[in-house]
Amino acid sequence: MTDTGSRIFSDAKLVVASHNQGKVTEICDLLEPLGITAISAAELGLPEPEETGSSFIENAELKARAAATASNLPALSDDSGLCVAALGNAPGIYSARWAGPDRDFAIAMQRVADALLLSGTKDRSAFFVCALSLAWPDGHIESFEGRVHGDILWPPRGDKGFGYDPIFRAQGHALSFGEMEPQDKHAISHRADAFAQLLTACFPVPS
Ligand code: IMP
Repeated sequence: MTDTGSRIFSDAKLVVASHNQGKVTEICDLLEPLGITAISAAELGLPEPEETGSSFIENAELKARAAATASNLPALSDDSGLCVAALGNAPGIYSARWAGPDRDFAIAMQRVADALLLSGTKDRSAFFVCALSLAWPDGHIESFEGRVHGDILWPPRGDKGFGYDPIFRAQGHALSFGEMEPQDKHAISHRADAFAQLLTACFPVPS
């Protein structure tokens, strides 16, 4: 077995510490080949902690710790968002809040387009960030951050995926994330990047 210096995951079950169905679906798809039973925080009726951190990793860690403590099971959380260069990397950790109390992403995407128009710049570069944290009930935690770079499209394109997917196109691709088949997005996304790091560190293949 390769020694990665990280704690190896050896349980059969984990909690996906998210109430966002889009994220839960993507994480469960990524976990499926590992043969791990994943239960969402919503299914267990766990409360959603307030995201008071000042970085993606801080928010991911507080969500994973809260779910691991409440469920007494290992918990995997995801804190992610869209960073637009011309907007000083906003909405960033406030990506969900830009959608308002009803989590209306048509509004959030319009806010990005309006802010870009107001900025007066032609720079449309952006990236998605995903921080994944795996916390154990004894307090141990492992965290990883993944990114995918691309640009903002307007108007939105496609109705697949979730959140800001219809306005994001990854570098070197013709389709927006909203137009891509889930497996094609999974192959290149910020979440897949963070997940690959998590697998190397905590789920190494026995040699
Ligand atoms: P939070 O991590 O719960 O704070 O929410 C982050 C927000 O970022 C989500 O509600 C989505 O709107 C957005 N987001 C994160 N990952 C993705 C993605 O893969 N596609 C589209 N939007 C995303």
